[in-house]
This record gives sequence, structure tokens and C-alpha cells, in this order.
Amino acid sequence: MTILLTGGAGFIGSNLAKQLLEEGHQVICLDNLDSYYAPDIKWKNVQQTLSIPAYHFHQGDIRDSDLVDTLFQTYAFDAVIHLAARAGVRPSVQDPALYYDVNVNGTLTLLQAMQRFGVTKMVFASSSSVYGDSPQVPFTETDSADRPLSPYAASKRAAELLCHTFHNLYSFDIFCLRFFTVYGPLQRPEMAISQFTESILNGQAINVFGDGSTARDYTYVDDIVSGIIQSLKNLKGYEVLNIGGADPISLANLIRVIEQAVGQTALINRLPMQPGDVQQTYADIRKATQLIDYHPSVRVEDGIQRFVDWFRSRQDADLVMK
Ligand SMILES: NC(=O)c1ccc[n+]([C@@H]2O[C@H](COP(=O)([O-])OP(=O)(O)OC[C@H]3O[C@@H](n4cnc5c(N)ncnc54)[C@H](O)[C@@H]3O)[C@@H](O)[C@H]2O)c1
Repeated sequence: MTILLTGGAGFIGSNLAKQLLEEGHQVICLDNLDSYYAPDIKWKNVQQTLSIPAYHFHQGDIRDSDLVDTLFQTYAFDAVIHLAARAGVRPSVQDPALYYDVNVNGTLTLLQAMQRFGVTKMVFASSSSVYGDSPQVPFTETDSADRPLSPYAASKRAAELLCHTFHNLYSFDIFCLRFFTVYGPLQRPEMAISQFTESILNGQAINVFGDGSTARDYTYVDDIVSGIIQSLKNLKGYEVLNIGGADPISLANLIRVIEQAVGQTALINRLPMQPGDVQQTYADIRKATQLIDYHPSVRVEDGIQRFVDWFRSRQDADLVMK
């Protein structure tokens, strides 16, 4: 398949690009290397695949409709995997307009280009944050998801709804995948696991928001990648699917697991809960299991160990470069 991969220079996108290329697909990556975190990191991600002939990188914005049209004219896309977004719950509280513009208008720009060029298949990266503080766990796709707590969550839910509209109007096949906190090699540096690992390794205090009882259903990036690829293989109609680890862990226990993997104790700087944060996330994955044969296989203890090993090897490599 020839695939337009938006956001392919990011954390999940660059892990996914490698796997798609290994499976023989042609990957056309569109990413503006935005400054949410260091563009250098994204550029390094891209360089891992840049020499592969089936991989093409275009630096640009999904909201640039002329550029998007040029890509659709140049390549005969079979499908779009749309990961490009302004990610992150907390920063979205400070700049809701930017989150709305990139995540909603950007998605609309792509959907309209698909309609103009007759491309009818999309896998869209949504988020568990759309469930808000739903008291009922695990979260299932039939929950109303109409009480988002942050501009980021609202923008993802709005984009899901737009995807449904294009499915209805033009018979697009679209799966909206609600990812539950993703971690693993190349993880975004501002995410908790990355921050905690770095600070514990360097003997610095970690910022812990709340009393440690908040829980997240962490999902190893390889399981996310397999959820996306399985969706691509089974794309039919419009579906919303939870892609999670289905095994939540409290923040306090997560810190213990990281301490064990690093072999050092964390110094804790306790801070109040942040606006927009939810108390817990927990995926009911029965629908994904049934529809796309999704089976998360990496337990958090193993995944964290793999992440810490990767983090250390990258730090060592950076030291050699200096
Ligand atoms: N990482 C998670 O835990 C998680 C959880 C739920 C959902 N998601 C979603 O999965 C997707 C990938 O997340 P990630 O963690 O890899 O984030 P990331 O920030 O590493 O990747 C997103 C990529 O999109 C690019 N981008 C941003 N704005 C763009 C624009 N206007 N035009 C083109 N490219 C643009 C960025 O440069 C970046 O490379 C996002 O849609 C995110 O909302 C991630």
C-alpha cells in the first residue's frame, strides 16, 4: 500500500513508519516538525528511515491545503494514517485555539483532500482523554464521551465526529483509535515516564501531581503500532476502538516500577492535581479484540524496563557524540 502518514516524525509515527516499511508498504510522511518539543528529536527520528527508498519525507503543515493537494496529486494513496496533532492535555489549557486549529481544522483539511482525490480510507489517532472523568470503568466505546475536560480532549472528540460525517457523506472507511497513554522508545520527552526516568537517573526530584492515586492504562508503543496496522488491514465502515493495555497502574506504583528498572530511588516533589487531568483511564478492549484481533502483549514492568534500557543507550550515545 502507499500510505500518507501524518505526524510520522513524532513518537508513535516514527515507530509505526519503521514497521510499515518492514511490511513492504510505501510511506509518505507529512510532518511540520513543530516546536511542541525539540524539532531536533523529530529530525533524528526521521533520519532512521530516510535512506529507505520506500520512505519519503515532506516537511509541512496538514493545514496547508495546497501542499496537501500536491501530495495527493503526486502519490496514489491507498490510505491515510493521521497522527499529526498538537498532543498534550495540560498545554492545551493554555492555548485552546491552537489545539482546535491543528487537531480539528487540520483533520478537516485532510478529509476534504481525500474526498477531492477519491481516497476513502483513514485510520485516525484519537485519545482516551475523550472519556473525561467517566466514573464507569473500564471505558467502553459506547460511553457518551461528551464531557471532555481539556481543549485537547474536546479537539480529538470533534475530529472523531468529523470523521463520522465524512463516512456518512462519502462512504469513507474510518477507524478512530482511542490510544491510552503510550510509552516506549522515542517517547515524547515531556511525558511522565520520560521525565521520571531522566530525573531519577540524574538524581533530581520528580514532580508528582496529586497524591499518587491517579491511574493510567499505559500502552507499550509496539502494541499501539500493531493496533494501527491491524486496523488498516480490517478497515470497513466507521468504528471507534479503544487501543489500550487494559491493565491500569497507579502513579505511585508506576514510580516504583521505574525506580526498580533504573535501580535508584526517586526524590519526590509533590504538587497539586493539574486542571484538565483525569483521575483514571482504563480501556475495555473487547471491541478491538473482536474486530481487529488486537492483543496487547507487553506488560508494564517489561515495557518500562525496555524503555529505561533504550533511554540509557540513547544517553550513552549522546555522550559519545559530545
Ligand atoms: N502518546 C500518547 O500517549 C498518545 C495518547 C493518545 C493519543 N495520542 C495521539 O497520537 C498521535 C501521535 O502522538 P505522539 O505521542 O506520537 O505525538 P508527537 O508529538 O510525538 O507526534 C505528533 C507529530 O505531529 C506533528 N505535527 C504537529 N502539528 C502538525 C501540523 N500542523 N502539521 C503536520 N505535522 C504536525 C509533530 O511535529 C509531531 O511530529 C497524536 O495525534 C496524539 O494526539 C497520543
